[in-house]
Amino acid sequence: MFIQKVKLKNFRNYDTLELDFTKNLNVLYGDNAQGKTNFLEAIYYGAFTRSYRADNVLDLIKLNEDFFKLEIEIKDKDDTKKIEIVTTKKGKKIQVNKVDIKRISDYIGNLNVVLFAPEDNFLIKGTPASRRTFLDMEIGQVSKQYINVLSEYNHLLKQRNEYLKTMFINSFTDKEYLDVLTERIIEKSIFIYSARVDYIKKINEKIGNLYKNITGIDNLVIKYSPSIDFEEFTEEEIKEKMLERFDHLLDREMSQGNTLIGPHRDDFSFLIDEKNLKIFGSQGQQRLAILCFKLAELDYIKEKTGYYPIILFDDVFSELDNIHKNKLLQHINKDVQTFITTTNGENINKEFVTDVDFFVVENSKIEKQK
Ligand SMILES: Nc1ncnc2c1ncn2[C@@H]1O[C@H](COP(=O)(O)OP(=O)(O)OP(=O)(O)O)[C@@H](O)[C@H]1O
Ligand SMILES: [Mg+2]
Repeated sequence: MFIQKVKLKNFRNYDTLELDFTKNLNVLYGDNAQGKTNFLEAIYYGAFTRSYRADNVLDLIKLNEDFFKLEIEIKDKDDTKKIEIVTTKKGKKIQVNKVDIKRISDYIGNLNVVLFAPEDNFLIKGTPASRRTFLDMEIGQVSKQYINVLSEYNHLLKQRNEYLKTMFINSFTDKEYLDVLTERIIEKSIFIYSARVDYIKKINEKIGNLYKNITGIDNLVIKYSPSIDFEEFTEEEIKEKMLERFDHLLDREMSQGNTLIGPHRDDFSFLIDEKNLKIFGSQGQQRLAILCFKLAELDYIKEKTGYYPIILFDDVFSELDNIHKNKLLQHINKDVQTFITTTNGENINKEFVTDVDFFVVENSKIEKQK
């Protein structure tokens, strides 16, 4: 899968833009505040229909305009697919090959991307909730069913919390309905846990070697910490453990009006020799661990969808020393379309890359270098 063409209208600082890209490496360079990140954000928006740095989608509309339009042509083997998203104050209209798409879950997956941006520090330093959102989006981009089950789970969770509150206030409320909700929550939890376990396992198959190659340090692993402890994932074990815990927690859950275990309480962390990178890793070690996490994800997506996603590196190269920069470049697979932004084109050592196109980003315009 690769992006052949991107067209923007009123997206962030871009008035109109239309550009073709190479299926290998695309390097966008330019001074600060010219539009490099905005451009990658547009591609990211095309994948997830949301931004990773603006909570309010209206911030993506060019100042003093009332809509933006994003068109992306994607090539996948012999097929060309055209996606089009128009966003206004009233909402967004999504089309794939001119056919309207109503549900986000029916859209996600048309364009798969893996982004590496300065904001990604949250994967180590941020809240568990931010890491869960990340997990859900990454798994969701290869599984429509995951998006749907997650949304059912969240709905059930709300119902269950409401019912716990009712039971607390009115001691005559019967527990049978709670048991029904609990049963259904467990059923959805099993699905979510199994997808997350599978995802983390796939990341762990790759991340250790990648990190070793780039930093020389052994034994980086991602540790998944679900709110109930299970060693080996089996449906029966999860079901039994959850039922047992729910039984035990009933009084506390009622008094708090809150479901205290389940996938909405999960977390994961980066460990080297059992030590948490959040606490003892240097800034650079943390950045590289996150980078390897993302590189490991490429194979996960390839396995699930049959093709590599598109990789977006925002400003990664400005932060790394030369040795690590070159090592990273060597890991960029020729079969993966890659977009790199940097303030300095010289960050890209041409010895390590082939088939590269350079683009200058200046004053809200992007031009291909001849
Ligand atoms: N909705 C908007 N309308 C118009 N301009 C905007 C909008 N949102 C952001 N901008 C402007 O776009 C410009 C470019 O931002 P961008 O983040 O893409 O810069 P950059 O090239 O990545 O710079 P840096 O190297 O500092 O990261 C900024 O000056 C910003 O103020
Ligand atoms: Mg930027």
